[in-house]
Amino acid sequence: MPRYTLNVNGQARTVDVPADTPLLWVLRDHLDLPGTKYGCGIGLCGACTVHLNGVPLRSCQLAVSTVAGMAITTIEGLSPDGTHPLQTAWCEHDVPQCGYCQAGQIMTAAAFLRGNPTPTDEEIDGALAGNLCRCGTYARIRAAVKDAATAMAKEGAK
Ligand code: FES
Ligand code: FES
Repeated sequence: MPRYTLNVNGQARTVDVPADTPLLWVLRDHLDLPGTKYGCGIGLCGACTVHLNGVPLRSCQLAVSTVAGMAITTIEGLSPDGTHPLQTAWCEHDVPQCGYCQAGQIMTAAAFLRGNPTPTDEEIDGALAGNLCRCGTYARIRAAVKDAATAMAKEGAK
């Protein structure tokens, strides 16, 4: 079995798995990081979104052999204590319903806000259009992303 050393949330983690094992399975089943969710398994729902070198990608579609050496960030690593402005805004807006899609939504939003710190509603909707929520929490997601952007702008202005 090949051995891979991955950089996950700033830590070197080693796994022995077949080369084509999806990163999603490695995170959940081998590294005890269950925050990243399995939704569709075919790249369509966004529940499994993680950052690779800061870019939001679908971990169900990434073979472990292709991600060694890259900086992988999961929802567990977005902030040291769960207080990223998006996570705070998510709580304030009580965004989740079943919760299943939410880690993917937050990871997509976090990468989006890095590139667009003052988004319009339309830009938020566009950025998150690929992240499906069967519970229909889209309005709360939009409001939370807006508030997080405002909070991050204030933080940056200090
Ligand atoms: S589980 Fe990866 S996109 Fe749906
Ligand atoms: S909160 Fe249930 S799928 Fe989004």
